[in-house]
Amino acid sequence: MSYSIRKMTLADLEQVVAIDQVSFSLPWPARSFQFELTDNPASRCWVVDLDGRVVGMVVAWLIVDEIHIATFATHPDFLNQGIGKNLLAHTLKSAKEEGALTSFLEVREGNTVAQEMYRKFGFVESGRREGYYRDNDETAILMSLKNLSGE
Ligand SMILES: CC(C)(COP(=O)(O)OP(=O)(O)OC[C@H]1O[C@@H](n2cnc3c(N)ncnc32)[C@H](O)[C@@H]1OP(=O)(O)O)[C@@H](O)C(=O)NCCC(=O)NCCS
Repeated sequence: MSYSIRKMTLADLEQVVAIDQVSFSLPWPARSFQFELTDNPASRCWVVDLDGRVVGMVVAWLIVDEIHIATFATHPDFLNQGIGKNLLAHTLKSAKEEGALTSFLEVREGNTVAQEMYRKFGFVESGRREGYYRDNDETAILMSLKNLSGE
């Protein structure tokens, strides 16, 4: 499978929103992605492009020397084929090139697949927020990565 990772544009909005909606129980409204693309200078938004089809997406915020992964998903038809790892690696590497030293994210306690992926990059649990997710009161695990390697 040959795909490229490129900056998200407004033309990707429909496909990105579709991935978000099937991937999360609390998806973002389309206007939130639009805001990230047009009005948030801290935003770093990438997509995985497979022959014009968006099969992965990430929104991250570069705040001083930290890259915060805000939302991140692979299209359900393309799971477990390395897309997530490549997209995360690209996001971290690019942020590092812009001066990021650390990374941070929140993940549902029950989302062990994502947690496992983050651990492979060196993320470790750095805190918990009980009842953080308002749809089912699930706990958020806070994970952080010190010494961003960009690997
Ligand atoms: C988490 C997610 C982005 C991973 O994307 P992906 O493209 O399937 O990931 P990859 O194929 O690169 O796999 C990355 C790692 O995830 C884990 N993983 C992926 N699929 C898995 C599965 N079915 N079972 C267990 N672990 C799995 C493995 O640790 C894997 O590493 P490995 O290939 O070395 O074993 C994807 O599952 C997803 O979009 N989930 C829904 C949205 C979500 O939870 N986003 C994260 C929010 S914090």
